[in-house]
Amino acid sequence: MTEHMTVSDTAATPVKTLPDAQTVTEVEHYTDRLFRFRVTRPASLRFRSGEFVMIGLMGDTGKPLLRAYSIASPAWDDELEFYSIKVQDGPLTSKLQHIQPGDPLILRPKPVGTLVHDALLPGKRLWFFATGTGIAPFASLLREPETYERYDKVILTHTCRDVAELRYGAELVESIRNDEMLAELIGEGFADKIVYYPTTTREESPKMGRITDLLRDGTVFRDLGIDGISGDEDRAMVCGSLGLNTDMKAILEGYGLREGANSEPAEYVVEKAFVG
Ligand code: A2P
Repeated sequence: MTEHMTVSDTAATPVKTLPDAQTVTEVEHYTDRLFRFRVTRPASLRFRSGEFVMIGLMGDTGKPLLRAYSIASPAWDDELEFYSIKVQDGPLTSKLQHIQPGDPLILRPKPVGTLVHDALLPGKRLWFFATGTGIAPFASLLREPETYERYDKVILTHTCRDVAELRYGAELVESIRNDEMLAELIGEGFADKIVYYPTTTREESPKMGRITDLLRDGTVFRDLGIDGISGDEDRAMVCGSLGLNTDMKAILEGYGLREGANSEPAEYVVEKAFVG
């Protein structure tokens, strides 16, 4: 797509004739950097909560411009939800941020990923460590009944620059805690298993600092009344920037956790959040 073209130009391209075209059903903007959208789900699409798919729009060459996006909705949902960054000069998100309900979206129905229950050995506590849009796969897993069947405690840490960027996660946790259908599926009291630990780095909030620093100096454990993280009981999933992932790997390995994969489950798994 050339610079002067608009999204309505994009919508006018014959995307609907592609077999992989879905329709946008809902869009919600949180900040000038973040938004969420929902699309129709291909009837044949099966995925495991936590996986990602390739989605995108038609590019200027007539070829689809696709990027890997974690599915933020759970496997049982009728629609698919995505949570995205907006990058003003990003090849895809500079256009994607303008989508409206009714617009077409290309979705390759081939889900993959390592942030899945199958890649972890059984444990007692499951930690989700997210920064920014890295919360997306955990938004899926937090709405997945299996998560609560497998673990006694599910701890979501989310570090963002400012308070406004925490809103998606805060609303998500609130809605899950009040979700009667989930309570019916999983059992009353499931909400007590969820621990939400939001932190900010660039704006004053009740808890400030990078999660990595708060782990290293023991603040997280003091705040949550937990002795620490150990390979015996704790399992972890990490999703954020390259820097977060590298730092968290070192921290978790220091606690004795080993990186797992679908083919060889272990104690923690990592995936990079999409940033462009
Ligand atoms: P910071 O403000 O100190 O860079 P972004 O919006 O750039 O993706 O960042 C999301 C959040 O992730 C920010 O709060 C940022 O903190 C934090 N962050 C960035 N790199 C790391 C890292 N290596 N370890 C922990 N947190 C990080």
